[in-house]
Amino acid sequence: MPNPNLSVAPAVSDWVPFKMPNPNHADIAVIFYVVFYWRFIQVHQRSFVTIRNIRYLNLKKSTLLTIVVNENLNYGSYFAVPNYNQSNVFNDTRSFPIVHQLEAGWNILKVYATSSIVLDMFLLEVNDSKLNNMIFSCKVICIQQLNFPPRAKSGVTPANMAQNSFFSKCAEVDNVDIPIYHPHVNAFSITARLPQYRTFANRRQANLTFCPHLTQTLWRFDNFSVTPFSKEIYGNFTFLTFQENNLSSIDINVIFRLKGEHTGSINTDMGSQLFLKFISVKNEVFITLRYKHRNGSMVTSGRKRFSESHLEQMWKIPDYTWIESDYNYIILVLYTKELSHLKIEYLRLDRRPFIPDRTITLFKSDNIIIEGVLVDMWWRGHERMTISIHSGDSHEGFTFLRLYRPVPWTQGYSQVFILYQDGNARFLPVSPEGLDWIPFGTSVILGQCKRDSIRPYVSITQVDIFPDDMKLVIFFKDGGYLRMTLKVTEDFTQAYFDNIVFLNDTSVYPFVTVRSMYVEEGNTDVDSIRVDDVKTLNVIDNWGSVVGKSFAFHRRCLSRHLTLSPDIQIDILKT
Ligand SMILES: *[C@@H]1O[C@H](CO)[C@@H](O)[C@H](O)[C@H]1NC(C)=O
Ligand SMILES: *[C@@H]1O[C@H](CO)[C@@H](O)[C@H](O)[C@H]1NC(C)=O
Ligand SMILES: *[C@@H]1O[C@H](CO)[C@@H](O)[C@H](O)[C@H]1NC(C)=O
Ligand SMILES: *[C@@H]1O[C@H](CO)[C@@H](O)[C@H](O)[C@H]1NC(C)=O
Ligand SMILES: *[C@@H]1O[C@H](CO)[C@@H](O)[C@H](O)[C@H]1NC(C)=O
Ligand SMILES: *[C@@H]1O[C@H](CO)[C@@H](O)[C@H](O)[C@H]1NC(C)=O
Ligand SMILES: *[C@@H]1O[C@H](CO)[C@@H](O)[C@H](O)[C@H]1NC(C)=O
Ligand SMILES: *[C@@H]1O[C@H](CO)[C@@H](O)[C@H](O)[C@H]1NC(C)=O
Ligand SMILES: *[C@@H]1O[C@H](CO)[C@@H](O)[C@H](O)[C@H]1NC(C)=O
Repeated sequence: MPNPNLSVAPAVSDWVPFKMPNPNHADIAVIFYVVFYWRFIQVHQRSFVTIRNIRYLNLKKSTLLTIVVNENLNYGSYFAVPNYNQSNVFNDTRSFPIVHQLEAGWNILKVYATSSIVLDMFLLEVNDSKLNNMIFSCKVICIQQLNFPPRAKSGVTPANMAQNSFFSKCAEVDNVDIPIYHPHVNAFSITARLPQYRTFANRRQANLTFCPHLTQTLWRFDNFSVTPFSKEIYGNFTFLTFQENNLSSIDINVIFRLKGEHTGSINTDMGSQLFLKFISVKNEVFITLRYKHRNGSMVTSGRKRFSESHLEQMWKIPDYTWIESDYNYIILVLYTKELSHLKIEYLRLDRRPFIPDRTITLFKSDNIIIEGVLVDMWWRGHERMTISIHSGDSHEGFTFLRLYRPVPWTQGYSQVFILYQDGNARFLPVSPEGLDWIPFGTSVILGQCKRDSIRPYVSITQVDIFPDDMKLVIFFKDGGYLRMTLKVTEDFTQAYFDNIVFLNDTSVYPFVTVRSMYVEEGNTDVDSIRVDDVKTLNVIDNWGSVVGKSFAFHRRCLSRHLTLSPDIQIDILKT
């Protein structure tokens, strides 16, 4: 793996100067160090650390620098000759010849000096491609000894977990994708617990940096002129062309591609809003919108009038208009008395706003609340699920359901489980006392996932719920089903699955698929997997495929994303 160069301590002001304790005067041979600097450094696994450079400024007198880690690992010394009175000449020690292996965790790096010297920068090399400056400088704390005792009995045969994850810089993409296969699993469990690191921070904000595809604007063109001589303008899979009809009319054509179901996006299904704003309008301008519908026909929408007092207009384009597999076309037929000097401030296509979710309480007792949620636009098109409450009613048209359990604090109930129609199941321990709610993080797709989309999914048609026993029977479109029994304690939320019937090839289709997020250590919803409580894998590494009976998807390094979202452990219980 490549070795990242880590530059620590950008300025000496970061460092804490100390006077050495009284040196032993009786010992003539001892070097008289007057100052030392120290700093915590953290590696999150045993790694070789090399000192590649120390940049310093020495104005006064010759100084001996000695570098020691943890008082016992000596990196050797460097004799720094001064550049008298030259306050802008920094010098480099270059590489120290000695390399030490540091244990995972915090280490203390000390620099002893025989006289005052300015230390400007340290360059260290660590053979760990996952390490970053946040961890190395202890801004992100990682814990070491983590245990996840397996629940599996010795008799069960192991499952096989495969790596399908990909890199992403966007923290709101489920780039962790790990299906787990078993030829004949008869029972398994999923347990959600708070992460084992210690923190009182409950960060739960989404982070949309590097997530351009999640913004509402599908494309936009800014500051362009419309004249008979306008040239084509190119955007991202989007371009504008101009075509003169006659002296007073010109067509502005927009040709663009959009993402849809195949990439797990709702952009082609969801209706949109086309905004156009002129910088100024001398003579009034009329524009008629025409666009190509996914059924192939050209649709003409109402004519809009622009004037100096109406510089901006918006057209609404209905749901299910756009297409994913080909280009989409918009034609703006512009008409005005005199076709010169028309300048457009922006022309942009936005997804229409979401209509808020509609929530229906399907069942409520002292023990449990069951809600069904109808959402405006679902990436699985028109697929919805029916929720049937035992000895109660059956309701159709839901995108997801959620369960709450009573807790003696907050508003009395804490959300513990969500199941989406595409099989995504999310588990959560009850909120700890003192917090109103904690976020979901890692999720697990239940059942035999299809992979004809970049986003794996199953199709749930119906869920039968037995509220008194906290049991759910989940039915899939392909005819398979399974039963889930939920157990919620103060420490964990655990789902037990049995009565499993899968109809498709178990070597091709997993029984569960873990989805989560990893951008870099300290910005993850999961960073590690503990297998059978014996070995730990990094969640994004290319480990291919791994067998085991117990897989704990957890975090070692304190994450600034959804900090308290749970660790998820999956155990094979009967085969
Ligand atoms: C420090 O760097 C300056 C400028 O590069 C160089 O002239 C000088 O010889 C160096 N001094 C030492 C002690 O290396
Ligand atoms: C450095 O500056 C001091 C005071 O300005 C001067 O006395 C001394 O001679 C200078 N040293 C050198 C080596 O130039
Ligand atoms: C660093 O290298 C040593 C020796 O090759 C190896 O034992 C250790 O696992 C490596 N550490 C990392 C984090 O790659
Ligand atoms: C948001 O994510 C980016 C990386 O995608 C990261 O650099 C940044 O620090 C994150 N912001 C916060 C507040 O965590
Ligand atoms: C468009 O031009 C205006 C005025 O010159 C300027 O304020 C604005 O930032 C420009 N917009 C873009 C997106 O370049
Ligand atoms: C193209 O994408 C880049 C980065 O995603 C963005 O900054 C730019 O504005 C986009 N251009 C257009 C015309 O949409
Ligand atoms: C110019 O072209 C537009 C659009 O094709 C048409 O509606 C209009 O009648 C034409 N005007 C003249 C003067 O030909
Ligand atoms: C295509 O869809 C449009 C808009 O819904 C509709 O007006 C038109 O009749 C449809 N055409 C065909 C051929 O189905
Ligand atoms: C899965 O099994 C069902 C029932 O045997 C069958 O109808 C369906 O085509 C299978 N699907 C796939 C993708 O193999």
